[in-house]
Amino acid sequence: MMFLLLSLLLTVGEANFNILPVVPFPQEAEMISTVRRSLHVEEFKITTDKLREDKVISSTISRYERYFERFERGPASPDGYVTEVSVTVADPTAQLKIGVDESYTLNINPLSPVVKLAAKTRFGVVRGLETFYQLYNITDGTFPSVKIKDYPRFTYRGFLIDTSRHFLPVDTIEKVITGLAMSKFNVLHWHIVDDPSFPYYSPTFPSLAEKGAYDMNHVYRISDILQVISYAEDHGIVVVPEFDTPGHTLSWGKGLENFLTHCPGVGTFGGDYGPINPSVEANYQVLQKLLAEVTSLFPSGFIHLGGDEVPFNCWAANQELVAWMKKQGIQNFNDLESYYEERLLDIVHHLNTSYVVWEEIFNNNLQIQPDTIIHVWKDKWQATMGKVIKAGYKTILSSPWYLNYISFSRDWKTYYQVEPLKIPGATAEELNLVIGGEACMWGEYVDATNILSRTFPRASAVAERLWSSEKRTNVADMEFRLDKHRCGMCARDIPAETIILRSYCPVEFSGYDHW
Ligand SMILES: *[C@@H]1O[C@H](CO)[C@@H](O)[C@H](O)[C@H]1NC(C)=O
Ligand SMILES: *[C@@H]1O[C@H](CO)[C@@H](O)[C@H](O)[C@H]1NC(C)=O
Repeated sequence: MMFLLLSLLLTVGEANFNILPVVPFPQEAEMISTVRRSLHVEEFKITTDKLREDKVISSTISRYERYFERFERGPASPDGYVTEVSVTVADPTAQLKIGVDESYTLNINPLSPVVKLAAKTRFGVVRGLETFYQLYNITDGTFPSVKIKDYPRFTYRGFLIDTSRHFLPVDTIEKVITGLAMSKFNVLHWHIVDDPSFPYYSPTFPSLAEKGAYDMNHVYRISDILQVISYAEDHGIVVVPEFDTPGHTLSWGKGLENFLTHCPGVGTFGGDYGPINPSVEANYQVLQKLLAEVTSLFPSGFIHLGGDEVPFNCWAANQELVAWMKKQGIQNFNDLESYYEERLLDIVHHLNTSYVVWEEIFNNNLQIQPDTIIHVWKDKWQATMGKVIKAGYKTILSSPWYLNYISFSRDWKTYYQVEPLKIPGATAEELNLVIGGEACMWGEYVDATNILSRTFPRASAVAERLWSSEKRTNVADMEFRLDKHRCGMCARDIPAETIILRSYCPVEFSGYDHW
C-alpha cells in the first residue's frame, strides 16, 4: 500500500519534491520503496564491463568516484549499503555530437547493493551518473529507492561564454563546463573573438592574435583549445566556436591589411574602421583558410557564424566600395550584406560544416543554405521563431535567457517560466524545427572573478526547461530542488550563489583550494 501511494504521488508530480532533488528533473521517475540505503564510501566503486580504457568513461567514472570520497559513510541501514554502480553501454562507438543519444535508465534497488545504470551511448552514462550524484542526500548519506528513465526534451541545450570582452582562463572555462554538465547542458557556445580582442591564436594567421589580443598572455593556443574540447567531451558537451562576421570584427583589422572597411569617423565605436570590406577578394581567402583551420580543430561539425548587428553607415561612407557595388550591380547595403553572407556560407558549406547564425541573417532576407540554424536573440521572439519555422529553418532560442543582465534577485524564475514552443499559430511539424535554446553570459562585466557565481545556479533553470518535460513548471518545486542543486555544486568546488533568503549547505563551498 505504501509503495503504491508513493508511486502515485510521484507520477502526479509536485508532492515528490522532497524526495528527488534532481535538476533537471528526470522525464520518468518512480519510487519503488521507502527504503533508503546508505553509501558505503570506502567500498564504493563504479564498474563497467569492457569500457574501462575508454577516455570518456574512465574519466567520468574516476570523477564520480572522487566526488563521493569527500563524504562520510552513512549509518548502516538494516537493508545494507550501496557499494557499486554497474554501468552498461549499448553502443560504445557513438561519437559526441549535437543529437547523440543521451538517454539512460538508473535503478536503485532496495534489495541490492548494486545500482544499475544502462545507457545507449557513453554520454548517457555521463548524464546518469550526474543524476545518481544528485540523488545522494549529503546530510544523512543515503539514496532513495528509485527507478529512473530519462532523456532530453531538446537536442540543443547551449550556454554562451564570451572571451573577447574579458579573457577567461582555461581552468575557469573548465569549471564552467563542470557546472554546465551538472545541469545536463550539451553545447558550449564559445564566442571567442569580437571587437575588443582576438584571443584565438591561429597558426595560419598569427598576426591576428599578436596584434588583436590584449596581450600574448591572454590568448588561447591550439593546445589550450584542445584541452577545453577534450574536457568538454568527457562531460558530454560539444564546443561550438563562433567567429562573428562581418560586424564585430574590429580586433581582426589590427593584424590584417585591407580587411576592414575604411570610413574615417563613422566606424565601429566612432573610429575609422567598420565591418569587413566585402569588395576585397583576398578577404574571402583569409576567411576560407581561417575557417578551414577552425573547423578542423573543433570536431563539433558546427560553427557559429554570427552575422548580427551589421551597421551600414561605414560601408556607405567608403566611396571605393560604393563604386564597386555599382559595377557589380549590387543595389543596396542589404544586398551587399547578402553578397558577403552567401560567399561566407558557401565557404563553410564546402568545409562540410553546419552552421548557426544570429537572427538578422534571416530577418534581412539573406540567401541562406537550407540546413542553417537561426539563433533568435531579440525581443518578440515568438513572432520571429514563428516566421523562421514557417520558412522551414531550424531554430534555437536565447532572447529571454541573457543571464548577463542581472537583477535583484530571483530572476531564475522568469527564465524558468519561458516555454520555447509557445509560438502562436505554429503546426506540430513546424515546432519540430525548434531544436532547443541557449543561455548567454556575455562578457561586458564578467571575467574569472564572477562568471561562476553569476552563472550558477541561474543557468540551471534554463537547463531544466530544455531537458525536462514541458509539464514541469511548478516554481516552488523547482526552488526546493534548485537550492539542493546549488549545494551539490558547492560541494564540487563551484561557487554557486544562493537562491533563497535563508539557507545553508551541509557542505559549504570551501574556497578555491581544490582547483
Ligand atoms: C536529507 O536527510 C535529512 C536527514 O535525514 C533530511 O532532513 C532531509 O530532508 C533530506 N533531504 C532530502 C533532499 O531528502
Ligand atoms: C566534404 O565531404 C565530401 C563528401 O563526403 C568529401 O568528398 C570532401 O573531401 C569533404 N571536404 C572536406 C573539406 O572535408
